[in-house]
Amino acid sequence: MSTITSSWTGLIFMVTKNYRDSYTRSLETPEEFWLEAAGRISWTNPPQRALDSSRAPLYDWFPDGVLNTSYNALDRHVAEGRGGQDALIYDSAMLGTQERYSYAELTDLVARFAGVLRSQGVGKGDRVVIYMPMIPEAAIAMLATARLGAVHSVVFGGFAPKELAARIRDASPAAVVTASGGIEPSRRIEYLPAVAEALGLAGARDTPVLVKAREGFAAPAAGHAGWLDWDTEMATATPAAPVDVKATDPLYILYTSGTTGAPKGVVRDNGGHAVALSWTLENIYDIGPGDIMWTASDVGWVVGHSYIVYGPLLAGATTVIYEGKPVGTPDAGAFWRVIQDHKVNVLFTAPTALRAIRKADPEAKLLDGYDISSLRTLFAAGERLDTDTFHWASRILGVPVVDHWWQTETGWAICANPRGLDGMPIKAGSPSVPMPGFKLNIVDGSGADVEAGTEGNIVLALPLPPGTLTTLWGNDERYISSYLQAFEGYYATGDSGYRDEDGYLFVMGRTDDIINVAGHRLSTGAMEQVIGQHPAVAECAVIGLADPLKGQRPSGYVVLKSGVDVPEEILVKDLIALVRRDIGAVADFKHVTVVEALPKTRSGKILRKTMRQIADGEDYVVPSTIEDAGVIDQLVGTLRPAAGRPGQSIVP
Ligand code: COA
Ligand code: AMP
Repeated sequence: MSTITSSWTGLIFMVTKNYRDSYTRSLETPEEFWLEAAGRISWTNPPQRALDSSRAPLYDWFPDGVLNTSYNALDRHVAEGRGGQDALIYDSAMLGTQERYSYAELTDLVARFAGVLRSQGVGKGDRVVIYMPMIPEAAIAMLATARLGAVHSVVFGGFAPKELAARIRDASPAAVVTASGGIEPSRRIEYLPAVAEALGLAGARDTPVLVKAREGFAAPAAGHAGWLDWDTEMATATPAAPVDVKATDPLYILYTSGTTGAPKGVVRDNGGHAVALSWTLENIYDIGPGDIMWTASDVGWVVGHSYIVYGPLLAGATTVIYEGKPVGTPDAGAFWRVIQDHKVNVLFTAPTALRAIRKADPEAKLLDGYDISSLRTLFAAGERLDTDTFHWASRILGVPVVDHWWQTETGWAICANPRGLDGMPIKAGSPSVPMPGFKLNIVDGSGADVEAGTEGNIVLALPLPPGTLTTLWGNDERYISSYLQAFEGYYATGDSGYRDEDGYLFVMGRTDDIINVAGHRLSTGAMEQVIGQHPAVAECAVIGLADPLKGQRPSGYVVLKSGVDVPEEILVKDLIALVRRDIGAVADFKHVTVVEALPKTRSGKILRKTMRQIADGEDYVVPSTIEDAGVIDQLVGTLRPAAGRPGQSIVP
């Protein structure tokens, strides 16, 4: 047991630091548990109630609370005397540069950029789309939007103009913030043509665009009348003060892959988000004021939102923005160099990054050149942390390696091993145990609980805890039909798994058409939509095959229209180029196989799971509802992997 003092009520709570007590209390007395957690936040109007269920199955956390998230992430720390402490360190392995921003400096930059946005007409509730590489201005734009009580929607830089356009169309932003370019190891990416194309596609050409110019990239072309230069605007900006918002007002929209081509706009509120993240920093990551947290992800993903930008800053810690890769920038020692240079206490990355390092430097010889003694814990998420990689990372680093499982929708870990609380051993292959407020069940297709050790659908009882999605942007019906209707009273995670006798979860994979490529969540349905547009394609299926580095890789199977006479190599190249053009390089779509027919049920459903099993060389069951069993025999001949690769797959 230890005590904390609530900063807004002056009340002294007895706070348990034991996992089982915390978890039990969060479910038995949620009002008390979450109001107590709310004491970590500085409120304009402290909430008197934790949960409003009057709109169930939609829920409102801290309905009477008023706050500003940007104030809590910045000004508050300056007011408390930490103005001189580093808030953000920018480390660019691509440029070989490092920059440090204190809390006072970052507060000033954010206030001034909020002034810039305000001068462009952005106000409370307006949307701002942010399409940027990993530079400090991305975080500044997010925090400035939050400062005005506006709503940001960050779009990952690896997405193509069409994907950006879909998000602009859905969010109808009052402004777009971008940079002139991003740097990938293999190429420099000009952002401005992509932004112009996306605005055109979305019919939003008049939207003001703020551009952070980067050396070596093209400036806005003539004719872009509403495009403004970041530095010029900042030079004369009037700083904007934080605007009070209701705890239930939206902070951001983050679009994520659904099973159809249309991305889902996950909505995060202000109050629940600030409370939940603050709780996690202390209790899951064991990070407090002055500690250094480095999350090697991208601000375009939820992991970046929660643990590059908001989480560490809400906690008064220092965050690291890293522009680079785990390998090749310049070598597989890059992560160890960053840990040493910035005395990182907690590293959070995706398993695929660890596998990439291991592949390049199996014995971690490059570690010898660095002092990583500051490192206390390594966290992994985004995909399952396979046991080989877990043991390897544990051995070479000599610190606890913690897998934790979550989703864009939940915003923070559903299951984790909380390092700030005592008492939970780590088990290889498991993200451990449910976090407070997540009442987790494993159910079969009919919604009945299954026994320990039996795999089923992982579901979470409603209401979900604070900080999780409140709805999908402008679309309560889609939120309810996508997540809440499959199992009465539960949120369906879309993942399957089982619990062992100790209550530890083991996540086995998705139950839908979402795949995970190098920690990037992608929709095979969206890729099928793109491929299906090709005039030679009669029908197609995209499935995620096992990949030793990236976890999964997309693989397309196409049936040609009868009478089509196109050389296969050309068709394959065309289809790969189409997916890259319409979804983006991040889809990593590089494999296409032409097949005679796709296996289907009599009702026309393509048997993607069976195809995946055949291609991955697993045992497979042919459903009795199959339309034509002969198609499977043909596929076995075509897809059966030889030397670990699908038989006839064409890899250009
Ligand atoms: N902007 C533009 N393009 C991008 C991009 C960005 N922000 N990020 C990736 N891409 C492009 C890459 O340049 C590459 O293009 P290419 O086909 O022309 O080479 C393509 O998308 C695939 O990139 P990536 O997935 O990064 O694969 P890779 O083979 O270059 O690198 C890893 C492999 C494992 C090193 C890399 O995927 C990685 O670091 N993964 C970790 C991901 C992560 O942190 N995810 C967050 C989840 S928590
Ligand atoms: P995203 O919304 O991009 O964070 O992707 C969420 C999905 O990634 C989850 O539904 C899981 O399928 C997968 N995932 C994330 N973290 C883990 C993990 N630790 N173990 C297993 N799967 C994970």
